[in-house]
Amino acid sequence: MVNLRTVLTNPKYIAVGVIILVAILAVAIAVPLAVNSISSENDATEETSGRSVLDEVPLIDGHNDLPHNLYRLEHNRINSFNLNRNLKEDSKWGVSPNSHTDIPRLQKGKVGAQFWVAYVECNTQYRDAVERTLEQIDVIKRMIARHPEFFEYVTSADGIMQAFEFKKLASLIAVEGGHSMDSRLSMLRIYYELGVRYMTLTHTCNTPWADASPVDANSTAVLKNVTEWGKNVIWEMNRLGMLVDISHVSHGVMIDVLEHTKAPVIFSHSVSYHVNPHHRNVQDDVLERLIANNGIIMVNFYPGFIGGETIDDVVHHLNYIKSVTGPDHIGIGGDFDGVEKTPEGLEDVSKYPDLFDMLAEGAYRNGTTFEAWSREDLRKLAGLNLLRVFRAVEKVRDAMWIYPPFEDLIPYQEFVDAGVENQPCMSDIDIHKT
Ligand SMILES: *[C@@H]1O[C@H](CO)[C@@H](O)[C@H](O)[C@H]1NC(C)=O
Ligand SMILES: *[C@@H]1O[C@H](CO)[C@@H](O)[C@H](O)[C@H]1NC(C)=O
Repeated sequence: MVNLRTVLTNPKYIAVGVIILVAILAVAIAVPLAVNSISSENDATEETSGRSVLDEVPLIDGHNDLPHNLYRLEHNRINSFNLNRNLKEDSKWGVSPNSHTDIPRLQKGKVGAQFWVAYVECNTQYRDAVERTLEQIDVIKRMIARHPEFFEYVTSADGIMQAFEFKKLASLIAVEGGHSMDSRLSMLRIYYELGVRYMTLTHTCNTPWADASPVDANSTAVLKNVTEWGKNVIWEMNRLGMLVDISHVSHGVMIDVLEHTKAPVIFSHSVSYHVNPHHRNVQDDVLERLIANNGIIMVNFYPGFIGGETIDDVVHHLNYIKSVTGPDHIGIGGDFDGVEKTPEGLEDVSKYPDLFDMLAEGAYRNGTTFEAWSREDLRKLAGLNLLRVFRAVEKVRDAMWIYPPFEDLIPYQEFVDAGVENQPCMSDIDIHKT
């Protein structure tokens, strides 16, 4: 038995006690230090990783076709359709190669703003394109309204920033294809009233007033580019404050639009023709004009346009376009849900952060390196460039308020020139003749 008195006076026990005390102190000091250094190391990694940029500025994606899949797979009956779950486990969506979007994956992908696309196929042209487009605008609004804790409907650059501050996904509406307005500026104005903030001038079909990109791969096609009346469509879009989207149009239309627009334009989902010479892609002379226009090309991920199957191939387009335009004219428009195939490494909307990490690191997955993107350049790519363009378009709108709306109908001759003068839907064709 050892009593307290013996312990306090015996040098042997004192020595042991001191050693224990020192050991306790050492642990008490070292452990928090170690924990601290681990967490500050984590902070450092997080701060310098490309993905953390997406916490600072909204990632604004220019093009997502989820609304078209709501039409295709659900016939727009979405009252009991739940987007807030893993759609890969759904019996219809899970087997569709075109499905890449749901709320959990949008959150994982740190998506800050999305242009949701009201797209109707070219076979609706001269038929029910307008009402079908209106239906897609309706389903987009209902989709947004069904998830108010996650989506926020917005129609302006400021709206995007406000939603981002509230940690909501800013949701905008776009129309893909001039066939949706049926050569009627009244429809364009009504789309704007309904919240549409960009219109792609064509999809894969020509409109009577603008050529689509397939004409550039057709040796017998007669190019009309943008017609005289078509120039008024651009003017009216400028006046309204609707972004002019020149993805999908022919080379000649790109040149004409860049010559006539009073505001910066966008490519909502396009890549480089130099890297992959597909008629759908953008040639260098156009990219150079885009700098002077102060516009933006939002990079598409579709392997068919990229000309490769992996995230490396997408990064190659990003690097090439940046080498031509500099960092101020480039953004992201993934085309998710609008394509049947996505690149390895960018399979769905959850993967954007990986792309930003890669750009910050400056290394392809195949091991070769490239010049790493600065954090400022990544902020521009993510959202700052699109916000700048959007604000410039709003400014042009505010400056053009003095002008009345453009009222002239498309002349009958333009239908004749386009070879479409006998369409069954043209019940008012006599009016166009006078
Ligand atoms: C090429 O253009 C001609 C003339 O407009 C048209 O008749 C033909 O269908 C086009 N070919 C293709 C493959 O689109
Ligand atoms: C259409 O644009 C092309 C450039 O792609 C140009 O060479 C051609 O002259 C233009 N045609 C018309 C009718 O403006």
